Amino acid sequence: DGPNTRAVAAGKQYFGSATDNGELTDAPYLAGLSNTADFGQITPANSMKWDTIEPSRGIFSFTKGDVIADLAAKNGQILRCHTLVWHNQLPSWVTNGGFDNATLISILQNHITQEVTHYKGKCAHWDVVNEALNEDGTYRTNVFYNTIGEAYLPIAFAAAAAADPSAKLYYNDYNIEAAGGKSTGAQRIVKLIKQYGVKIDGIGMQAHLIVGSTGSESVSAWTANMNAFTALNVDVAITELDIRTTTPATAAAVTQQAKDYANVVQGCKAVARCVGITLWDYTDKYSWIPSVFSGQGAALPWDENLQKKTEVYNAILNAW
Ligand code: XIL
Repeated sequence: DGPNTRAVAAGKQYFGSATDNGELTDAPYLAGLSNTADFGQITPANSMKWDTIEPSRGIFSFTKGDVIADLAAKNGQILRCHTLVWHNQLPSWVTNGGFDNATLISILQNHITQEVTHYKGKCAHWDVVNEALNEDGTYRTNVFYNTIGEAYLPIAFAAAAAADPSAKLYYNDYNIEAAGGKSTGAQRIVKLIKQYGVKIDGIGMQAHLIVGSTGSESVSAWTANMNAFTALNVDVAITELDIRTTTPATAAAVTQQAKDYANVVQGCKAVARCVGITLWDYTDKYSWIPSVFSGQGAALPWDENLQKKTEVYNAILNAW
């Protein structure tokens, strides 16, 4: 029995974790990741991003992504593939190439076609476009938007759908857990893609949350916002969950964090089309948080020694 077993029993597809190639040589870590009572799904944190897959124009390198795909197959875990189009971890040959509209469209289509075809049949979900929005819901300026305009979104989804018709195609972003301008912007993206006659299957809510605030504080606010997406006939997935605090975490913070994790689980449980939850790695040992948010961390249910935080783990388990 574990969070994944409980999630599936509650009618969800999975409870899972991100992982990364360098961590897989850590045998106790790998054993924990491969325990399907806890994790029925994995996501590569980095190894399917553009800079890894196509570091130079037309030169594709799938080795690192294949390691994660093979691990999922070996463990019998669902694979969420992440991510085809993003302004970060995008090689400078794309960003600074000075390509015109037609050339950048063909570069975008080729990247997506090659990568999705390579992993065809292996990816339950693809995060097709990641973080296309500013906080107010307007489009983020990136090389794709600046050169192609908003049509880059349906163009990307159409290429992914053509290459693997059975993969569920997602738009993924952060700060769309609560209602507001950015969530409205993500809903506009769903409508835009559908208006082009192109398929979009789901919205990924990253859910990089903060203990005691933002998104997880109210189950009803959380479910209302998920329902605003599912009303557009798309699924919702919690794709990169972590709940950070100032380090070292106080006992009070851990107690609040346990409640916050339980609220996220209860919210997903309450929404029929919330298909699953993914931790952005499962242990503080390999969390991205301290490297990006100075002085913060302790964001995951397993500590730096790969030990379960009993209070947090049990809160997740019991919330299902
Ligand atoms: C992060 C990885 O976890 C880090 O290892 C990497 O250095 C930067 O990217 N939103 C996303 C993820 O969609 O791809 C990011 O992953 C975290 C924020």
